Amino acid sequence: MTQTTATGPAINAPAYVKNQKLIAWVGEIAALVEAANVYWCDGSQEEYDRLCAQLVAAGTFRKLDQAKRPNSYLAWSDPSDVARVEDRTFICSAKKEDAGPTNNWMEPGEMRALLQTGDKALFKGAMKGRTLYVVPFSMGPLGSPIAHIGVELSDSPYVAVNMRIMTRMGKAVYDVLGADGEFVPCVHTVGAPLQAGQKDVAWPCNPTKYIVHYPETREIWSYGSGYGGNALLGKKCFALRIASTMGRDQGWLAEHMLVLGVQNPEGKKFHVAAAFPSACGKTNFAMLIPPAGFEGWKVTTIGDDIAWIKPGKDGRLYAINPEAGYFGVAPGTNEKTNPNCLHSLDRDVIFTNVALTDDGDVWWEGLTDTPPAHLVDWQGKDWTPESAKQADGKLKPAAHPNARFTVAAINNPVLDSEWDNPAGVAIDAFIFGGRRSTTVPLVTEARNWVEGVYMAATMGSETTAAAAGQQGIVRRDPFAMLPFMGYNMSDYFQHWLGLGKKLEAQGAKLPGIYCVNWFRKGADGKFVWPGYGDNMRVLKWILERAEGKAQGTEHIFGTSPRYEDLTWTGLNFSQDQFKNVTSIDHAAWTQELKLHAELFQQLAYHLPAELTEVKSTIEQKLAA
Ligand code: OXD
Ligand code: MN
Repeated sequence: MTQTTATGPAINAPAYVKNQKLIAWVGEIAALVEAANVYWCDGSQEEYDRLCAQLVAAGTFRKLDQAKRPNSYLAWSDPSDVARVEDRTFICSAKKEDAGPTNNWMEPGEMRALLQTGDKALFKGAMKGRTLYVVPFSMGPLGSPIAHIGVELSDSPYVAVNMRIMTRMGKAVYDVLGADGEFVPCVHTVGAPLQAGQKDVAWPCNPTKYIVHYPETREIWSYGSGYGGNALLGKKCFALRIASTMGRDQGWLAEHMLVLGVQNPEGKKFHVAAAFPSACGKTNFAMLIPPAGFEGWKVTTIGDDIAWIKPGKDGRLYAINPEAGYFGVAPGTNEKTNPNCLHSLDRDVIFTNVALTDDGDVWWEGLTDTPPAHLVDWQGKDWTPESAKQADGKLKPAAHPNARFTVAAINNPVLDSEWDNPAGVAIDAFIFGGRRSTTVPLVTEARNWVEGVYMAATMGSETTAAAAGQQGIVRRDPFAMLPFMGYNMSDYFQHWLGLGKKLEAQGAKLPGIYCVNWFRKGADGKFVWPGYGDNMRVLKWILERAEGKAQGTEHIFGTSPRYEDLTWTGLNFSQDQFKNVTSIDHAAWTQELKLHAELFQQLAYHLPAELTEVKSTIEQKLAA
């Protein structure tokens, strides 16, 4: 079938696409962006290989050594396009207060003029000389009652191949969509139209960037970046920002959480959802290996970044991982920190902004203790340990600190057998954690749902040097959702409270809520808690609490384990060290509560009264 539009290219929708709304929308966008042609992705292996070969020919990809790293590629981005751009991310709800004080907002009509309708609208002619790829995808197992469909129109073949790994992408999506199914429309351009005869660059992008969400009409428009969450619109844009508003309207949760399966030696299986801000070892926790002394315990991955959670008929909360792949940070990953992750990367990987070795493989900071004698760095320049030495004696990184891998979940050696179950898995515990060198103890159980929501709402994390230019500043990051919230943060707190209240009224037993901190430091400035696999000790206590088995001690804001409540087999960790990571310093907590007050002041509009009451109760206990 050949459809044409008044001004655009031939649409040529395949016969298996029955959704007229989709076809009309593709025609409309193709005309707006003046794409040279339209290509409908079918998601096949043949197509993936062809697009990768095309990316190699264009200089975007380099094929890695086939023996060392089969079917894998390396891309180096433009140095200006290396991370999500939070200051260029907008929630364009009709009313400013619905975006809330934590989001950038612009009136939707004004934003549409800027992007689509004005004389100089950025999307007008933005794909000149380029192919528009139609990328159909399902977030979640195809046809799952928890899943939702999106279609991304992008002028980036890099996006098309990454989306095939990160989502269930391809032809089968149209069967679920049918003639009149719903989809979230996502439009993406790198913002680099090509004039006739103009030669392309390896990583086209534009210094002007807009990552725009219209929550009321559930649309995503992304301009100017080809990188990660700015461009792979199924991830942060859809699965968190747009999905959080869908969840608010429809009674479910879209969360920045990994999901784990944990089986105990008796064969009983638990499921845990855990939220951590960026740079807190989330991928390591998602692929945790139980330490010596925990024989018989098995930890498996359902998801590493995002969870969609819906109440089931039995009142329990069922989670799916809406994604099908991992877009993880490479630096720091090695045989000790995360062997499961490292082995996921043995083959079929797209690497972005890591370094290239002389034998056609990849390297990043932390992969080996000693770097290779020669590398080509992420900017394509020769790198040696000598030439990389900076004034402070440290080496200039060969891989960008935010260098990434894109890999299918099925490459993960500890993938959970239920990861693709359309019904999801029932959650037994929620964990919230940040990076705090002081104040916050190793683990605390909330006494009830409301106090747990308070813990999650007030969580904070110390910024790393890369994020803020200043080390050790605590950024409040409620639910680890600060950069990913699609609506007013206070309304989101209310949504969590309301959902808990509703399920409890139905007689459901809600999952326990826990706050963890692996990052307390001693007087010597070093981490006291060993972390990584040893986090299993905390996880075991949490699951035993969920079963009503483990003991603990109650304090001003919850219950924490005593030394004797954790299992220490295989680890030399003294009572003193334990005290170091669990002590509650009243002076520090009095300060901490002042910071909670600042947050609550910022979020005062619609802030649930229950949360202010929890705060007053803790303050009274501190004063007593
Ligand atoms: C991510 C993040 O990229 O949380 O997943 O920043
Ligand atoms: Mn994330």
